[in-house]
Amino acid sequence: MAIPTSRTKEPGVITVDAARCAGCGKCVAVCSDLSLELADGICRPSGHGIFECIGCGQCMAVCPEDAIEVHGRFLSPGDLFPLQSKEISASYEALMGLLYRRRSIRKYKNLAVEPSLIDKVLEAAKTAPMGLPPSDVSVKVFDSKEKVRAFAEDFCRYLEKIKWISSRWFLALMKPFWGKETDELFRNFMRPLIDKYLSEMKRGENVVNYDAPVALYFYGSPYSDPGDPLIAATYAMIAAESLGLGTCMLGAVHPFIQNGRAAKKFREKHGIRCKSREGIFLIMGYPKAEFLKGIRRTFVSVN
Ligand SMILES: Cc1cc2nc3c(=O)[nH]c(=O)nc-3n(C[C@H](O)[C@H](O)[C@H](O)COP(=O)(O)O)c2cc1C
Repeated sequence: MAIPTSRTKEPGVITVDAARCAGCGKCVAVCSDLSLELADGICRPSGHGIFECIGCGQCMAVCPEDAIEVHGRFLSPGDLFPLQSKEISASYEALMGLLYRRRSIRKYKNLAVEPSLIDKVLEAAKTAPMGLPPSDVSVKVFDSKEKVRAFAEDFCRYLEKIKWISSRWFLALMKPFWGKETDELFRNFMRPLIDKYLSEMKRGENVVNYDAPVALYFYGSPYSDPGDPLIAATYAMIAAESLGLGTCMLGAVHPFIQNGRAAKKFREKHGIRCKSREGIFLIMGYPKAEFLKGIRRTFVSVN
């Protein structure tokens, strides 16, 4: 039994070089699946893992003797790399300096974002916690203002065809099934939002994705946790900020392009490989505004 993903349904295969293993047990301690055990002073696959090896690779990464190899689930020993020293990793103060400065940016200078910066942002996003490895997150990259605009225009044409989903009769029909909160959200947020997207686009204003120089759409697979693409996008956002780019998360497109034949056609047309429970756009570019103050935010509760 292996945990299924859209990329693989096979478990990882762990091999231990008994001649190298010093029996320290670090790999056993780090394996949350109980896939490894110590026997006769050396480590070996236990044969009674909870899910079988999920391919997280942590056993390889803690082994001081390079005695373990995991193959499968898009992982191999070639994926290990040396870590930089703790001293040059970001301090809490440096990280908070960056986080306090971040603001959602919706107006950008008319400057393209260098492809190398997009690569760096994606490299950072790949380090996000993967949910269950291998990551089931895809990223659709719109790497120019023109491509971002073309997507928004096509989205508005698509929205025009499906805007009955926020009509009075449809909401009345759905209320008993999806409840008071969703009904309120549709009436007071989704319906005005659709109207705004369409009316502004008719005036030539793009408030779908703000004509950003770059848009990255992070989405999962039908197997993945709803959080996976959001976490990857958050890492991308922080990385972009560290590179001097302004960003904004856009959650509003995703729900409209999930269900039904028209949504499937729209996704296929734009190179979006599958539907997913969650997904989010991250737009980015060089910000027009410069903020002079931070804004303190709060949680509902911490207890
Ligand atoms: C999940 C999520 C979805 C969002 N969707 C949108 C959106 O569709 N359009 C938009 O302009 N901003 C969107 N935002 C950005 C928020 O509006 C923004 O975080 C808020 O204005 C607070 O500003 P700040 O990020 O500068 O603190 C979204 C943010 C998150 C986390």
